[in-house]
Amino acid sequence: MSVRIGRTLPPALAPIGFRNIAGGILAMFMGDKATTAFAEKLKEHFNVKYCYLLSSGKASLALILRALKELYPEKDEVLIPAFTCYSVPAAIFRVGLKIRICDIEPETLDFDYNELAEQLSAERLLCVIPTHLFGVTADIPRVRELVGNRDIPIVEDAAQAMGGEFRGRKVGTLGDVGFFSLERGKAFSTVEGGIIVAGSERIGKALQGQIASTSAYSLKEQVALIIYAVVISVFSRPWLYWIPRSLPFLGLGETLFAPDFSIKRMSGFQAGMTVGWQNRLSKIIGIRVKNAGYLTKSGMKSTGDSELLSSGLVRYPVIVRSNSEKISVLRESDRLGLGGADVFPGTVDTIAGLKGYLVGGTSLKASSIVERMVTFPVHPYVTEADMKRIVGLIRKPAGDARKISEFIKNAEERSR
Ligand SMILES: Cc1ncc(COP(=O)(O)O)c(C=O)c1O
Repeated sequence: MSVRIGRTLPPALAPIGFRNIAGGILAMFMGDKATTAFAEKLKEHFNVKYCYLLSSGKASLALILRALKELYPEKDEVLIPAFTCYSVPAAIFRVGLKIRICDIEPETLDFDYNELAEQLSAERLLCVIPTHLFGVTADIPRVRELVGNRDIPIVEDAAQAMGGEFRGRKVGTLGDVGFFSLERGKAFSTVEGGIIVAGSERIGKALQGQIASTSAYSLKEQVALIIYAVVISVFSRPWLYWIPRSLPFLGLGETLFAPDFSIKRMSGFQAGMTVGWQNRLSKIIGIRVKNAGYLTKSGMKSTGDSELLSSGLVRYPVIVRSNSEKISVLRESDRLGLGGADVFPGTVDTIAGLKGYLVGGTSLKASSIVERMVTFPVHPYVTEADMKRIVGLIRKPAGDARKISEFIKNAEERSR
């Protein structure tokens, strides 16, 4: 990654405003009131009986898995996509379960359903985790059809898809239990945070016990969150983002396998930051849909058909022709500050720390995604001029940097 001084887009972002931070600070003095009120609103919105608020998406997943382990003590394998966020295998590893992977299709980023049908017959399978990667919706009704009458809970990973819909149904409520992430690069953000929504009575109740034994944020930790919220709010603006991005010790954009994350109940500060969340979410999704639509109309083919993309992507995924093209596109995107990113560095089976914890599955198609996928930002700080330049990057034939710059200049002149 080269250091660039000047306007630079973050690859993914849900902007945090000072109003949200002020709301959070006020709520810190309200005890559990703010978290309870937010959970009640979520229950109503998602029409579920159970909703729990935590410190992150991975913390939410870890507690879901602990609850399932308690319900099905004889089972210890979790089936996940071969290409997903490293936090997912980290949460599974953290609770002492084994990982089974299933390949995914480059066209949909969803399971290879032929392989899924086979993997679902594994005897020790505790649950399956379909994932709405980058907000591209996964076909959970199809997973349910394949599960049939076997008792295999569907845990819906909607970490990147809060506010999305699949055929008119709210994402997060299609499985037996679902979770969202409120980290800074997601649909909307409380710095960090996680939400569990459960329609299943059994799982909802089992989770109650898990939540009761989870600790709260200390006052010092909440103050650290306030500082972090202010830093994100200021430095995620494109004119300043180059500063944190050029500090290697911050590790922005790095994906690490880190199972020693903390598991806490959401704090009053985070819950208070959600003031006006429904409006904020629908506004941000509207912008993302519009920006993704612009890229698609300009000829940039994304994975997934328009229905799968209609829920507001947190990143716009594109599969280019070769790994060398991906490298040159990323290099040029870096040089121009366009926020192109390659997200997760490998398939789950390539994570060194998981040796001995993987029990099967394939990743051939997922590896081709790793080789060739680039994602681009569609968040509210992306302007039309940025999008024109992004389109120019992808439309050009792979070549050297000078040719790419010429191509972008020509594309910009043509579109004026
Ligand atoms: C698909 C997916 N699942 C789970 C998570 C974990 O969420 P969090 O970062 O809030 O722990 C992420 C976060 O990037 C994700 O992208």
